[in-house]
Amino acid sequence: MTKEIKAEKYSKLLKTANSVLVPEDHCLSRMANCCVLIQEEFNWLWVGFYLYEEGRDHLYLGPYQGPLACTQIPFSKGVCGASFTEKKTMVVPNVENFPGHIACSGDSKSEIVVPIKRGDMVIGVLDIDSVELSSFDEIDQKNLETLVQLLSN
Ligand code: SME
Repeated sequence: MTKEIKAEKYSKLLKTANSVLVPEDHCLSRMANCCVLIQEEFNWLWVGFYLYEEGRDHLYLGPYQGPLACTQIPFSKGVCGASFTEKKTMVVPNVENFPGHIACSGDSKSEIVVPIKRGDMVIGVLDIDSVELSSFDEIDQKNLETLVQLLSN
């Protein structure tokens, strides 16, 4: 996919998301629809959320689209744990080179994980897996960071 096509897809996605992912709805409902909006444009291997709740020692599986996934991710493990604890987006061109990567599906080759921030807190992460190497770049990072802001309240 060229950078131009990718940027166009995000432009369309963000436009729809702005009208559909409204703060009146519960954040879980918005996350569920957010997965569908992303998949309608990109059809990645897996798109979903891992969420934080006070008192738990792991992130738990939230709404997603794709193959069956791990239900718990310790804060210290995986790309999701790293994004959560470091409070930053992780772009992983080759999951085999990421120490501690958790392989929910052997078909996943590259991954991006974006933290959902509410003030200083991270309330969860958006995780996307691709069957191809190096699928994600700064265009995905920028647009997905904008997208998850619609889920933060
Ligand atoms: N690969 C993730 C685990 C979640 S699955 O990709 C759905 C990780 O390393 O945190």
